[in-house]
Amino acid sequence: MQSDQQKLQAILDQAVDHARASTERGRVAHYIPELAKADPQKAGIAVTLDNGETIGAGDWQQPNTIQSISKVFTLALCLGTLGDNLWRRVGREPSGSAFDSILQLEHENGIPRNPFVNAGAIVVTDAILATYQPKEALGEIVRFVQGLTGDDQIFIDGRVAQSEEETGHRNRALAHYLASCGNLYNPVAHTLGVYYNQCALTMDCAQLSRAGRFLAFAGTLGPNRQQMVSMKRARRIAAIMLTCGHYDGSGDFAYRVGLPAKSGVSGMILAAVPGIASIAVWSPGLDRNGNSHIGTQMLEYVTNEMDWTVF
Ligand code: DON
Repeated sequence: MQSDQQKLQAILDQAVDHARASTERGRVAHYIPELAKADPQKAGIAVTLDNGETIGAGDWQQPNTIQSISKVFTLALCLGTLGDNLWRRVGREPSGSAFDSILQLEHENGIPRNPFVNAGAIVVTDAILATYQPKEALGEIVRFVQGLTGDDQIFIDGRVAQSEEETGHRNRALAHYLASCGNLYNPVAHTLGVYYNQCALTMDCAQLSRAGRFLAFAGTLGPNRQQMVSMKRARRIAAIMLTCGHYDGSGDFAYRVGLPAKSGVSGMILAAVPGIASIAVWSPGLDRNGNSHIGTQMLEYVTNEMDWTVF
């Protein structure tokens, strides 16, 4: 008889087969030149289960920068040091606008709607700099992610960070606007330097699914139950992922996939199935909201087949 794990492996293989057969693949991010080189035919998925095992299919072992998914890790780190004081500087509501939109900031006194739009994430990184110098902050972020993943080989792709730094006019505009409202405490170049580097943290789907275990397993790493983030905090971060993790596509993602998840413009998505699994997918073509088109399709397929949902 087929074991549960064999059944899941077969479903992951099918998800990738369907993905590879799909003619509509979305559009690779072009505004960061290094990301524009990605091959839209790529598709991978990895699942880390409650027993600690990671299984995958397709291009699940090809490393990529995690981009906006890093915002989940910096939020967890920041709340760990700063606590709820962060919420004086950032909201917790869906934005209903693009991830790099500047419009709302003017109407809302420089308080970004949530920690996952770029402006909100820049404030979170700025708040981490209250405790650390930029180099130390980056070291803390990398060590935190390495600890969550259980892998000290995770590194930052300096070329991607540099590529974004050179072309990042929009983020500079957001950061300067935040500063003009008194909601950026460090020099723009310091905060953005850390932000670009955190976005360039590099992992394959297997590593990312392991890094996300704390979201699926109530703040722990799974089998050994090591508590990395408090249970309450992990649940609250997952709640914000569900409502804001896909920007203006969050409603459609919840409708189709039914899980808390966070996307990145490299085409990766991290999703949590509470108590059961942490999932990471990758396919570089994006939809109009900047979320992986094929990645969402793969997640929709797997969650339907496995009956995985929070609803
Ligand atoms: O700041 C940026 O624009 C990128 N480093 C990250 C944006 C991102 O990943 C949006 N998510 N889909």
